[in-house]
Amino acid sequence: MHFQQLISAAILSALLLLAGCAEKAPETSMDGIYTVTQADRGAGLFESLCARCHSVQEFSGRSFDAIWAGVPAAALYARIANTMPLDQPGSLGIPQVTALMAHIFRENEMPAGDLPLEGDMEWLMTISLARPGN
Ligand code: HEC
Repeated sequence: MHFQQLISAAILSALLLLAGCAEKAPETSMDGIYTVTQADRGAGLFESLCARCHSVQEFSGRSFDAIWAGVPAAALYARIANTMPLDQPGSLGIPQVTALMAHIFRENEMPAGDLPLEGDMEWLMTISLARPGN
């Protein structure tokens, strides 16, 4: 192999490695960051805890974008965990908040994945909210 070819091969393998990493580490809510089971549970919770004041359409599509597009997932977590339900703020546990988020994600056609959404704020800060088509 000539020196130039070696360099090209090294660059190519570095790029492949980067592409591989990008596939593994989720960066947005489009990267399969919740499970179907979680979203199902969230749908039930939404009915019992949120539906008397909200319809899920308020958190879907363009209404979702208006507030949440490009925002870290941690902000949505904090909004729900710290301020909702409006008359009982702080009453939800981590599994409830993450299930409610999963329900909202599924309503926005963000794909489900193999691992459940965790309430890890540091990690949620690195995930930006995005839905199909933007
Ligand atoms: C008693 C009525 C009430 C209940 C129950 C309630 N909310 Fe809210 N929620 C509100 C009101 C009113 C606002 C907007 C005013 C504000 O900023 O506080 C709001 C705002 C929000 C927002 C931010 C606005 C947006 O469109 O993104 C989110 C997210 C939210 N609620 C989620 C929930 C979830 C999830 C539940 C169920 C756990 C819930 N709420 C239960 C009354 C309620």
